[in-house]
Amino acid sequence: MNQLSGKVALVTGAGSGIGRANSQVMAARGATLIVNDLHEASAEETVGLITAAGGRAIACAGDVSNAAAIAEAIGRARRQVGEIDILVNNAGVASGRMAFEDIDEATVDRMFDINVKGAMFCTRVVLGAMKERKAGKIINTSSIMGMAAQRRGSHYAAAKAALIGLTKAWAKEFADWNIQVNAVAPGRVLTPMVAYMTDNDAYREDLRRNVPAKRQAKPEEIGYLVAFLASSEADYLTGQVISPNGGEVI
Ligand SMILES: NC(=O)c1ccc[n+]([C@@H]2O[C@H](COP(=O)([O-])OP(=O)(O)OC[C@H]3O[C@@H](n4cnc5c(N)ncnc54)[C@H](O)[C@@H]3O)[C@@H](O)[C@H]2O)c1
Repeated sequence: MNQLSGKVALVTGAGSGIGRANSQVMAARGATLIVNDLHEASAEETVGLITAAGGRAIACAGDVSNAAAIAEAIGRARRQVGEIDILVNNAGVASGRMAFEDIDEATVDRMFDINVKGAMFCTRVVLGAMKERKAGKIINTSSIMGMAAQRRGSHYAAAKAALIGLTKAWAKEFADWNIQVNAVAPGRVLTPMVAYMTDNDAYREDLRRNVPAKRQAKPEEIGYLVAFLASSEADYLTGQVISPNGGEVI
């Protein structure tokens, strides 16, 4: 399967979890990966996994919430491997379950700075070249929590719903340049972000009761969807939100 050969893909927050899996799957399908993460060592680790499997990747350390720094880091990376065909805005943070009245301003700012403004900053960096070449794929990482109500996470829900808004607005706005924009909204995925709260009997019982698949997703199950959205097979798909969630929200 080489649907992505010749393409350059930037995945943010790719030093762990879903972003790492997205990068590995796209590299296995022929893309050259620019692996961004806040932590250089994590990005390098993902690069090592990709190159050990025969793929091509470079690390691009940087904080997506720092507009100037991330623009510079992405600029350096694309001078090395070429213009970016695929952007996966994946970097994100959660802050555990919190009652609304416990969510302070600093927590809200961090949530929006990284999850929402980070995606805006990275999109701004790659957009010009995509427009010039009249081609591009942008995939935003929302969440089931941006689609369906849950208790005690309204700041995360708001940030993830904002990404859905951006996805739909960008899909219309960038369509004249043949740029497709879609969102993935995963349900429960077993990654370091959530591992600390899922390895217990109460959580396993919750899965049995509320998730028809009765398990969490493996990160690569999100990666397969992202790789499809990044491919020409998805050229007619834009402005959509696809939720791999094991049937939890239908
Ligand atoms: N795990 C889940 O159940 C789940 C469900 C739905 C959506 N998501 C979303 O998927 C995305 C990936 O989550 P994950 O579970 O793989 O988390 P993770 O914590 O395993 O990975 C997130 C990565 O993003 C990096 N990162 C954090 N802040 C950054 C910044 N400012 N700049 C660059 N990189 C930064 C981290 O260093 C980390 O490597 C997030 O947007 C998350 O909200 C996760």
